[in-house]
Amino acid sequence: MLNKLIKKRKGLDEADEASLLEEKVPDHIAIIMDGNGRWAKQRGMPRVAGHREGMSVIRSIVQAGSRLGVKTMTLYAFSTENWKRPRTEVDFLMRLPERFLSVELPKMMEDNVIVRITGDVHKLPQYTQDAVHRAVHETSGNTGMILNFALNYGSRSEILDAFHAMYEDVEAGVIAKEDVSEALVSDYLMTNGLREPDLLIRTSGEKRLSNFMLWQLAYSEFWFTDVLWPDFTPEHLKEAIEAYQQRQRRYGGV
Ligand code: IPE
Ligand code: IPE
Ligand code: MG
Repeated sequence: MLNKLIKKRKGLDEADEASLLEEKVPDHIAIIMDGNGRWAKQRGMPRVAGHREGMSVIRSIVQAGSRLGVKTMTLYAFSTENWKRPRTEVDFLMRLPERFLSVELPKMMEDNVIVRITGDVHKLPQYTQDAVHRAVHETSGNTGMILNFALNYGSRSEILDAFHAMYEDVEAGVIAKEDVSEALVSDYLMTNGLREPDLLIRTSGEKRLSNFMLWQLAYSEFWFTDVLWPDFTPEHLKEAIEAYQQRQRRYGGV
């Protein structure tokens, strides 16, 4: 147990890092952090214990990615569909950013990480909004990896919002109908300014997108693992990156 814990907290060693750096490391890694509930259930614990454990592995993954030169890491933390969960679980999840950031914000400053949020933040409880806005504000002068939390995020509502904003801007004469292009659509999405994910990781054995970045993942490489998110370690991240490095991205060409 202790060994496992140490392994979880431990980053990659120098040899691991060096071998990964021999090939292209993905610029943007997006992760659907899934399996917290099952992790807890397996241990006879309440689901929220899985969320607490899941939160605690984020730091080691962020640090490992940042050390490898990953430019953006997006973590799917709460979907627009997750409101369907029991009230007590949703309440717990809404408190997590506050709890997470009170401990992790100083570490993120040390690691030069820039926090960014993608999602409908204004629909979250005020204390959740305060916590994330503070993190975004305090890290805004950093220059390292962008750590992008997808929080109250849903891809379809994001795309719909983009349509509405474009209609309004066409009507107001800000843009012309002819200006609407793939690049412009990207600009109207909440991820504007971020590169598209090169690699998508989903833990817990589920092989679906669950309304995550439908537009942005058009040409991303996917990597699935049965490992539950609270058990995910930098070693697993390494496995995913190694798999990515074996892929040949063709974008429809030959
Ligand atoms: C992912 O773990 C975390 C969130 C969706 C917030 P789950 O809570 O979905 O865990 P499972 O899928 O029920 O095991
Ligand atoms: C996706 O996981 C959302 C997050 C990880 C935040 P879910 O557990 O909500 O997805 P489904 O319900 O299994 O598709
Ligand atoms: Mg799940």
